[in-house]
Amino acid sequence: MFLRSSCMLLPVSMAVLSQASSQIPPNCKDFMLSIEASAENWALPSYPNATDVASLARYLSQTVPASNFTSKPKIPVSGTFNISARFCEPTQKVFEREQSVQLLLHGFLSSKSYWHGLDYPNATFDGQYSWAQHAASQGYYTLSIDNLGSGDSDRLDPITVVQFPLQSQILLRIIACLRSGTLTPRIPTKFNTVIMAAHSYGSLHARELTIAHPTSAADAYILTATAWNPLGLNAIVSAATAGSASVVDPSLSHLQPAYMSGRLSAWEKYLYPPQGAVDPQLIAFEKSEFAHTYTVGELASPKLNTTSDFTGPVLLITGRNDVLVCSPPGSNATTDCGVGNQSIPAQMANVYPRAQFGFYVPDKTGHNINLGYSATEAFGAAHMFLEEYGF
Ligand SMILES: *[C@@H]1O[C@H](CO)[C@@H](O)[C@H](O)[C@H]1NC(C)=O
Ligand SMILES: *[C@@H]1O[C@H](CO)[C@@H](O)[C@H](O)[C@H]1NC(C)=O
Ligand SMILES: *[C@@H]1O[C@H](CO)[C@@H](O)[C@H](O)[C@H]1NC(C)=O
Ligand SMILES: *[C@@H]1O[C@H](CO)[C@@H](O)[C@H](O)[C@H]1NC(C)=O
Ligand SMILES: *[C@@H]1O[C@H](CO)[C@@H](O)[C@H](O)[C@H]1NC(C)=O
Ligand SMILES: *[C@@H]1O[C@H](CO)[C@@H](O)[C@H](O)[C@H]1NC(C)=O
Ligand SMILES: *[C@@H]1O[C@H](CO)[C@@H](O)[C@H](O)[C@H]1NC(C)=O
Repeated sequence: MFLRSSCMLLPVSMAVLSQASSQIPPNCKDFMLSIEASAENWALPSYPNATDVASLARYLSQTVPASNFTSKPKIPVSGTFNISARFCEPTQKVFEREQSVQLLLHGFLSSKSYWHGLDYPNATFDGQYSWAQHAASQGYYTLSIDNLGSGDSDRLDPITVVQFPLQSQILLRIIACLRSGTLTPRIPTKFNTVIMAAHSYGSLHARELTIAHPTSAADAYILTATAWNPLGLNAIVSAATAGSASVVDPSLSHLQPAYMSGRLSAWEKYLYPPQGAVDPQLIAFEKSEFAHTYTVGELASPKLNTTSDFTGPVLLITGRNDVLVCSPPGSNATTDCGVGNQSIPAQMANVYPRAQFGFYVPDKTGHNINLGYSATEAFGAAHMFLEEYGF
């Protein structure tokens, strides 16, 4: 359960509402956003003309030493960026949430479809794996986006442009435009509440926003599949990377060498919990759809890791069997993130001394929380937390 000792019960009307309407698919529209942003990116060295994993490892070992990043040189970047988005409407009107939107950000080697259960057609019941559908049933709008460099968003220079600082500025801009009702004419609402939910690498972004912009980004955060010290996250690089996207996937052959891709078969054991907790057909479906990328610039960008002055609600949801978050590098042991306030996820409280911090560790759950049989439980916990804090 949540770390907080007083976990209020859902009002009866809410609980009934969630059962009644969560199986109705929301009305969604896909479109391209045009986002103006500028940032100070890191001045990273150019990438060699090589497509193998060893070249990536060599580049990273020379570029990302355990040194003082604040003294590294920066370069300004700016432009108008195409960000692919899916906007979904509530399936149930909840008066207090008519101007509330959730901004949903995926992780590494993924896309916005993560928040829609990959659009997997064979779920046991409608909405089983769709966070967005659950949110819609609780009265929230959602905007899921492909991060710059991923999915259908612009794939620009993977060293100089697609980096953490610029992505961060794009997120800030999207949040500000959601509030002012100027994101796109296709979203006429001026939202007075923006909740950000993020997964894995996306959670590093959400966390950075709470540190660098504690009063001007989102009003509440749900970080998933992360921790204060995500022990195994670096393992994702060696486990997931099969080489440059251009040689891994024919559909990505036009991309520069510093766009990387992987093969899901090589790292599904890191993403999914033990047998019986996930539908093997869903994994097979994910493999058949997999053509995702990440950039060396995203990987090599330093991220803030200090405490946050954010004072709103922050919920951390990390699966109890999340190898990438809880297992030390090189270890392939069956992972246990622990339970209660001694668990690895609970340590994130250190980052949020001023926030209303809670955590939730679903059992029999791996890194891809939304895609296992426990997804409904995690969706419920997230929305109960928001409800508890008046969102
Ligand atoms: C990169 O290497 C490939 C194959 O070795 C070669 O065909 C290509 O011209 C090189 N590109 C650049 C920009 O040097
Ligand atoms: C890092 O570099 C900055 C700027 O050069 C300096 O002010 C700071 O003290 C350094 N921090 C550490 C931990 O060395
Ligand atoms: C954004 O999309 C428009 C229309 O498809 C295209 O003309 C433009 O080049 C794109 N912008 C970037 C930075 O790729
Ligand atoms: C969905 O289930 C049907 C019937 O079992 C099967 O034929 C089909 O291949 C499945 N589709 C996917 C995408 O798993
Ligand atoms: C953040 O800092 C803590 C404490 O110094 C450290 O244990 C942890 O590994 C760091 N996390 C990241 C993501 O660098
Ligand atoms: C885990 O590591 C052990 C010892 O290094 C090895 O024998 C085993 O095959 C590994 N298991 C997996 C699933 O990688
Ligand atoms: C952890 O939980 C135990 C038992 O519920 C409680 O006694 C203790 O005060 C808690 N510690 C912290 C740091 O919250």
